Amino acid sequence: MDAVRKWNQEFQEKYGRPRKMYCFTMGCQMNAHDSEKLIGVLTEMGYVPTDKENEADFVIYNTCCIRENAEQKVYGKLGWLNTLKKKNPELIIALCGCMTQQDVVIERLQKTYSFVDMIFGTFNLYKLPQLLCQRIESGKQVMDIWKEGSDIAEDMPSIRGQNFKASVNIMYGCNNFCTYCIVPYVRGRERSRKPEDIIEEIEKLAKDGVKEVMLLGQNVNSYGKTLDKPISFAELLRMVNEVEGIERIRFMTSHPKDMSDELILAMKECDKVCKNLHLPMQSGSSEVLRRMNRRYTKEKYLDLVRKVKDAMPDITLSTDIIVGFPGETEEDFQETLDVIREARYSTAFTFLYSKRTGTPAAVMEDQIPEDVAKDRFDRMLDILNPIIHEVNEVYVGKETKVLVEEISRHDESILTGRTEQNMLVHFQGDADLIGHIVPVKIKENKTFYLIGERI
Ligand code: SAH
Ligand code: SF4
Ligand code: F3S
Repeated sequence: MDAVRKWNQEFQEKYGRPRKMYCFTMGCQMNAHDSEKLIGVLTEMGYVPTDKENEADFVIYNTCCIRENAEQKVYGKLGWLNTLKKKNPELIIALCGCMTQQDVVIERLQKTYSFVDMIFGTFNLYKLPQLLCQRIESGKQVMDIWKEGSDIAEDMPSIRGQNFKASVNIMYGCNNFCTYCIVPYVRGRERSRKPEDIIEEIEKLAKDGVKEVMLLGQNVNSYGKTLDKPISFAELLRMVNEVEGIERIRFMTSHPKDMSDELILAMKECDKVCKNLHLPMQSGSSEVLRRMNRRYTKEKYLDLVRKVKDAMPDITLSTDIIVGFPGETEEDFQETLDVIREARYSTAFTFLYSKRTGTPAAVMEDQIPEDVAKDRFDRMLDILNPIIHEVNEVYVGKETKVLVEEISRHDESILTGRTEQNMLVHFQGDADLIGHIVPVKIKENKTFYLIGERI
């Protein structure tokens, strides 16, 4: 770290400006949080962020490989970076994240993308300073990919995008091996952080002015099971609820197979826990769910939805849905539509199935032709969007509390923020409200966001 800092200081003295960095983040909130750590470390080494990629001295891509198009995008960008590097041979290009954990990707990078300076993975993020130093000293490509994570690296500095909202990893990896999913192969086995480390981090965040925390894990419902002193996610939620200064607690993702009554009760009883639950359905067909290795049925999922709604009538549900999983019939697809009609989501992330090399589903028979999957996808949105509109209609005319996040990109007099139920609200107001929770009356429902008025 010190060596790179010195190298950057010398540059600044010589050229009268600091070296600039550009970090491009893809994928889920885990990756976004990893990028906050990367930026934290780079800042400590003397880099200054820029949003102009072509002006940067150090470009890092924190990649995702959950679907094929994410990978295609990276290859496309790398081609462009190569032209930048020809103009500026001093430019250092780094690639990390989930994509680099795959052997097929490493082979392709070695064959065709030798101009990439640094390649590392998801398990050794914290080695960035060492790897960068190695690259500077040797002038050669540095590649360091680990196949598994050892201990969890605590204490990495991190720079958050917003100072009133923060993500906190409570666990890493995944043990579920859903048959379509690459995550267990690129993020390794499930590892939970100790509750005392998590609470210490959240207390520090609260002292820094953070009001909302998002607890992150691929399956938070199995948090704590493998710790020396096992603890449940429900117990952890209750502990976080006690942290002074924190006003809102969110978490993701909950796997339906592990969602306990104890957790539903904790959500209900903890006043700071937002009444919004992300409960990925993936498919409404029990047969497809079986082949996905999700380990719940349509009926179990719907029972869970009913239980959650009975316990917390004002809760909103969001979900993830995959269309076109191998072998999905029209009848299977209709069952997905059934669940959408019954669960009545306020938000849904919908995906076309994407084949991931190395996963069991990639070699299943009966891969669904693209046109069939796309047709189903469009028909699904025709059912889903009017439901989302209806679900959000209940807020019109009501008062709600909004955590103000930023100024609208389209209009400087408009602020955007989120309600406890995670609905996006736009309303007129001054920028000094950013970071505050303010009462807003909802005037209009625009399906994917609401328009309100400050009261
Ligand atoms: N751990 C979370 C999901 C993480 S990935 C969970 O189990 O719910 C986020 C979403 O991407 C998944 O819920 C799934 O809907 C989607 N996804 C994962 N692999 C996919 C694939 N191969 N094709 C299409 N969508 C996929
Ligand atoms: Fe992927 Fe399933 Fe793990 Fe979620 S639970 S990350 S979908 S394997
Ligand atoms: Fe997240 Fe993509 Fe990796 S969704 S865990 S960044 S494969």
